[in-house]
Amino acid sequence: MKTEVVSVDVLSPEKSKDDIIRAAEIIKGGGLVVFPTETVYGLGGDGTNPDAARKIYAAKGRPGDNPLIIHIARPEDAEKYAETTEIYFKLAKRFMPGPLTVILKSKGSVPRETRGGLDTVAVRCPENKIARLLIEYSGVAIAAPSANLSGSPSPTTARHVIDDMMDRVDMIIDGGECEFGLESTIVKIDSDNSLTLLRPGKITVAELSEIADVRIAPAVLDKLQENEVALSPGMKYRHYAPKAPLVLLNGDIEEQLRYIREEDISGIAYISYTEDAEFLKKENPNMPIYDLGSKNDELTQAHRLFYILREADKCGYKRIYAPLPNTDGVGLALYNRMIRAAAHTIINLRR
Ligand code: TXA
Ligand code: MG
Repeated sequence: MKTEVVSVDVLSPEKSKDDIIRAAEIIKGGGLVVFPTETVYGLGGDGTNPDAARKIYAAKGRPGDNPLIIHIARPEDAEKYAETTEIYFKLAKRFMPGPLTVILKSKGSVPRETRGGLDTVAVRCPENKIARLLIEYSGVAIAAPSANLSGSPSPTTARHVIDDMMDRVDMIIDGGECEFGLESTIVKIDSDNSLTLLRPGKITVAELSEIADVRIAPAVLDKLQENEVALSPGMKYRHYAPKAPLVLLNGDIEEQLRYIREEDISGIAYISYTEDAEFLKKENPNMPIYDLGSKNDELTQAHRLFYILREADKCGYKRIYAPLPNTDGVGLALYNRMIRAAAHTIINLRR
């Protein structure tokens, strides 16, 4: 398959209307288009077409029991595909369009393939202007997982999409860097109208709590226990297996320095907060350091994390160290992605 790559300016996508209409024709015809969203790039196909879902799973190399999110142009469009509730509309009013995905009971219009065999469907109304135009011109909900090969971090730049998806999809829309950089917050509405957080993201627990009571699914913070059923099928897959193992250090910079002083650090790289980089450099001027952003600037950290993991993975390090994030606010999303990338390898240095 030959992949066409088109560039669209996210600030004025109307200027590329013809390209976006062509992308929408591809979706309607059962083909695949990678498009930017405000979280990460999505690998899109017609959410009502079982063949498109099969093609998406094949292009990603993803198991067919891990369901896809359907992307809609307006929150009320959810009614065509799912049983909406009062809480859904409260969430929609506050957070949509935006980086929130809500799990609802599915209607028959979404094929089993898209839902990964579940009787629920994940619905998201993205904010990115290119994504919105593409959905609108397509006239259907667009099923889209993150546009990475299964096992790589989600792509946040067109370069990383091209690395994974060239010649596997019909078109790639290059819309620049994704604004947030981690995947959407996912919640399930429970029968008592409370929410279960299945995946943390930019929309935080504190924000969701303004709408309803929130319970955090245990797998968000920890490994799925052996006999625990995954509330979200994605929880049971190891998301990302870096070639160099990632090791998270739970401790302040003095404790981290004391620790690495005892280790053989040849071939080792560090993902560091901006404030800590100078101490690490002083300790070992030759150690490659990736700047995650300032300690209290979780938005910059979220924006950079997947980019750094991909770039670091190209360099053949023996091991990569990174600080264990705290779980406050957007920190919970960073914590969740980093413990998975590290396959739960956390070294506790706190006394
Ligand atoms: O930000 C995002 O959400 C991006 C962009 C492209 O919109 N999409 C994304 O999709 O991250 P994906 O497929 O990589 O992750 C979706 C997660 C998976 O872990 C999947 O198991 C879960 O959502 N999921 C999908 N449908 C579900 C359902 N009906 N019930 C529970 N979990 C579901
Ligand atoms: Mg994904």
